[in-house]
Amino acid sequence: MASTEETRLWHPFADMGAVRQNELVIERGDDVWVWDEDGNRYLDATASLWYSNVGHGRPEIAAAVAEQFKKLETYSAFGDFVTPVARELASTLADLAPMAARIFLTTGGGESIDAAAKIARRYWSAIGQPDRTLLISRTAGYHGTNGFGTALAGIPANREGFGPQVETVQVPHDSLEALQAAIEKAGAERVAAVFAEPVIGAGGVYPPMPGYLEGLAALCKRTGVLFIADAVICAFGRLGTWFGVERFDVQPDMITFAKGVTSGYLPLGGVVASARVAEPFWQAPGGPMLRHGATYAAHAACCAAALANIDLLGRDGLLNRGQEMESVLYGALKPLADSGKVSEVRGGVGTMAAVELSDELLSARPGAVGELVTAARAQGVLVRGLGRGVAVSPPLTATAEHFGLIHDAISHGLSTF
Ligand SMILES: Cc1ncc(COP(=O)(O)O)c(C=O)c1O
Repeated sequence: MASTEETRLWHPFADMGAVRQNELVIERGDDVWVWDEDGNRYLDATASLWYSNVGHGRPEIAAAVAEQFKKLETYSAFGDFVTPVARELASTLADLAPMAARIFLTTGGGESIDAAAKIARRYWSAIGQPDRTLLISRTAGYHGTNGFGTALAGIPANREGFGPQVETVQVPHDSLEALQAAIEKAGAERVAAVFAEPVIGAGGVYPPMPGYLEGLAALCKRTGVLFIADAVICAFGRLGTWFGVERFDVQPDMITFAKGVTSGYLPLGGVVASARVAEPFWQAPGGPMLRHGATYAAHAACCAAALANIDLLGRDGLLNRGQEMESVLYGALKPLADSGKVSEVRGGVGTMAAVELSDELLSARPGAVGELVTAARAQGVLVRGLGRGVAVSPPLTATAEHFGLIHDAISHGLSTF
């Protein structure tokens, strides 16, 4: 049931004219399930916003955070300060990273994107190539809503209406030729970095074409351009590995992460910076300094949540499950393509999928995506509306039975059209 009492909360990405008296108030959760304030139960087929990888209500994470609070809520990580738990998390993440790395911590995904963009530009200026400032991203890419992330948006609507922004170029997400042409047009000596999600998430769940990411990495290597893998969705088990990129034969210069690193129990994100990128800043006292970072970077309670979450992902075999279950989820939803109302079911790489509605349906019923989300919700399943369809990315604890429920709810929604 939706709350009809006027809210004072300005929701992100919301039509507040519609939502102001029509919120869905989620009150509690347990594993793949959440309940609204009226006691209605929903299958969380989206792991909230792609982050509840270990599922809701894990007492192990609550206990780890409580323990940290008893010792010290947090302390600054600016300058030479640090807490034991922040040091431990950085070591753990550096050990798990697919390349020799230093770890820069933030409070979320968008902040990690902005940190990576600034690290890239600062790296180039530190090594005497200050003209390398241009950032390239891909159509359908989503990189958060901070300053750089907004400018990098591959979903045009997310960039529009905010006035002049940092200089970026967007290239079609599946074309290496277009990427190469963009680098040549600008001149490699002007390009700082390319941002790419291993599997595009919020822009519609697009797994990469075979060889695409490898080709992108090779092109970056040839031209010196930094390759920044945005693994905010793909990491911590969503693709069955720690950082998602291990599924491909690539070694990024930086990896951004957030979401699944704590499964959302507390806000945390970060940048895995390769030795190449970190080196100028780390080599000797008096070297260049990265004048960037937020008050709550490396927040101790958030680091404790991350460590407990990482422990659970390994202990319960959830890390691998993102890959083990990918074809089961895709197989469960694929038959929806035969409904006559669906143009494509995408997925198969990681436990994430999208069901895109047909052009005919979308032109006949422009509100079909919203109607489908509402219909699935009435069946007790929360799916996420995207531009042309719905996406699902359930907690990694979800089973084939849950995937069946997701199929049935979407199928029922489609049958009402
Ligand atoms: C790939 C990707 N990058 C960055 C972000 C931004 O993260 P946040 O919403 O934590 O700022 C998101 C959020 O969905 C994302 O999917």
